[in-house]
Amino acid sequence: MKIISNPLELKEYLKNNNKTVGFIPTMGALHEGHISLINRASEENELVVVSIFVNPTQFLKGEDLDNYPSREQADKKICSFAGVDVLFYPNADDIYTSDEVSVQAPNVRGYVLEGRSRPGHFSGVLTVVMKLLNIVSPTRAYFGKKDAQQLNLITLMVKQLFMSVEIVPVDTVREADGLALSSRNIYLNEYDRKEALKISASLHVCSRMVSKNILDTKEIIASMRETLYPLEIAYVEILNRNFEKIEQVEIGDSVILVEAIAGETRLLDNIWL
Ligand code: PAJ
Repeated sequence: MKIISNPLELKEYLKNNNKTVGFIPTMGALHEGHISLINRASEENELVVVSIFVNPTQFLKGEDLDNYPSREQADKKICSFAGVDVLFYPNADDIYTSDEVSVQAPNVRGYVLEGRSRPGHFSGVLTVVMKLLNIVSPTRAYFGKKDAQQLNLITLMVKQLFMSVEIVPVDTVREADGLALSSRNIYLNEYDRKEALKISASLHVCSRMVSKNILDTKEIIASMRETLYPLEIAYVEILNRNFEKIEQVEIGDSVILVEAIAGETRLLDNIWL
């Protein structure tokens, strides 16, 4: 596996290779969720490129940027075992200077849900993803449905800015007990981890209601909130795939999203019905 930290060197390395390139941007602390993105990219492309970069611009003041888990040696081993061809591992000053052009998240869709509690977060995400896509120029880039709003906004950016990359959504990987894998799960103590199971449980409540033909979103959200009690809830929303509010679940066009705080840790989860 080739490891490169300089963007121009990576561009040069990937130039004229005439191969399909699958790209997986990450912030490291890799787990089975990341690995499923890598495996999917390996199946569909001749070359697989992973980036590990804890992007400072998507963290707000007071968030966990400095404490974000770092597992450099383990991450390199995981990538190598998973068959990654090129690992891009830049430093912040390889990516950013002091006076920068940036991408602005859309005023509505970038500032609801997670964007409401973290204003500006998605501008940081879109800016770094734009930079990374320009450096790697992949055929396809892989993103988890776990971060549904991020996936939605990246898909929107690629469409609205007429970029030439296919964005591939990948299903959420979970622990056996239902907890969605996340690099932040290591912050959970035993009690909070148990409480956190209420998040996936609330999504189960929703799918069970829908299977009984209860489609009224207000009624479903009320039951989900009961299941989540006493967790602090940032939001429970039922939206269509364009991320607009709906009154009735429409099978094939709905996303059910939850963000709740277990202990101090913000946890996201969702299902697509
Ligand atoms: P990170 O949180 O490291 O996630 C990298 C990718 O892995 C994202 O596309 C995310 O949706 C996906 N992922 C995380 N947990 C998953 C799970 N349990 N199942 C499936 N996929 C999962 O998301 C980011 O990094 C950053 O915002 C980034 C896009 C790299 C920009 O900095």
